[in-house]
Amino acid sequence: MTRVALIGAGDICPAYVNGLRRFPALKLVGLADARHEAAVARGRELDVPVFTLDALLASDADIIINLTPPQAHFEVCQRILAAGKHVYTEKPLAATFGQGQQLLADAQQRGLRVGCAPDTFLGAAGQTARRFVDQGGIGAVVAGQAIMMERGPDDWHPNPGFFYAAGAGPLLDMGVYYLTQLVQLLGPIEQVQGLAHSSWSPRIVPRGERKGATIEVDTPTHVTGGLRFANGAFVNLTTSFDVWKHASTPIELYGADGTLLLPDPNNFGGELRYSQQDGDWQGLPLSQPFDSNLRGLGVAEMADAIREGRPHRASGEMALHVLEVMETLLQSAAQQRPLPVLTRCERPAPLDTLPGGFA
Ligand SMILES: NC(=O)c1ccc[n+]([C@@H]2O[C@H](COP(=O)([O-])OP(=O)(O)OC[C@H]3O[C@@H](n4cnc5c(N)ncnc54)[C@H](O)[C@@H]3O)[C@@H](O)[C@H]2O)c1
Repeated sequence: MTRVALIGAGDICPAYVNGLRRFPALKLVGLADARHEAAVARGRELDVPVFTLDALLASDADIIINLTPPQAHFEVCQRILAAGKHVYTEKPLAATFGQGQQLLADAQQRGLRVGCAPDTFLGAAGQTARRFVDQGGIGAVVAGQAIMMERGPDDWHPNPGFFYAAGAGPLLDMGVYYLTQLVQLLGPIEQVQGLAHSSWSPRIVPRGERKGATIEVDTPTHVTGGLRFANGAFVNLTTSFDVWKHASTPIELYGADGTLLLPDPNNFGGELRYSQQDGDWQGLPLSQPFDSNLRGLGVAEMADAIREGRPHRASGEMALHVLEVMETLLQSAAQQRPLPVLTRCERPAPLDTLPGGFA
């Protein structure tokens, strides 16, 4: 049994509590928030014991999950590590690559693990695609495109400001799902070239309860660019909070023998299709488990890995590589030139068990 606890009682907290409870090998011992009253309200709503931050850090939790906004990830992760606990943080790993490097160094020095969302790549769609690509279903992948475009969280999130601060934006907030999926399928990225700007600054909330309100913009809201993978594949990536609607596939991979279409990597399941050469599209049935929302799957897998003394799949190393790719893409846009990515990571092994005693 692994004891887990949560810091951050905001919008995503209920999805984690519900997900974590589906793994018999995990015990949720409590939650805390800098706004103690928010923790108390969530604790009552979800029937979870509530702690002050200091008490949670001193509790008997083995892994503490960080569900604070990106700009607080570094500070909160550092406190968790300093308390002698393994940390699993929501994405991105930190607001800057330098902070991410520091976290991994601190964890290594203390003999502790860092895990990081997203864990959606462990879902049925990502894992079915992984097997298909590895078995040569479309031959060697030579190119691809990944498209995440939407009108932003302005109208639905209770606290949308943090999405427009440095450390978030469409690339670090949403592109992270696409990049993580691509890295688990194709391996690491070695060079990027970007274009980035904000179509509106400040933003005016276009609809909903806060219609007409102003949001300050401190990070590009439309980012597009090219990724060169170490395996030689070129992938175009576009992430945007400035687009109402589009008709592009979330991810397309082009191989020597055919094409694979993947669903939204922010989800665990979805529809996969492929073609052999330029033949008709064919459905690729999901062959792996976890086809619906199960936040905490990566935590359960990390808990198993710690017990078994092997690497965990939603790893700090992969998250750091993806964070470097995202930061370098923005720097490349600002400097108007291609830039190298220096970190590398192993592709996480395909998921071959049901983590956390999931039945
Ligand atoms: N909301 C979603 O749909 C969603 C989905 C996937 C991932 N995420 C990620 O989850 C994280 C949290 O997002 P959210 O939407 O729940 O945000 P939120 O603003 O709704 O909640 C964040 C909570 O963290 C608390 N907090 C802030 N700084 C803190 C600190 N230093 N110490 C302790 N508590 C602190 C806040 O009081 C707040 O209750 C982000 O990294 C986000 O990218 C959110």
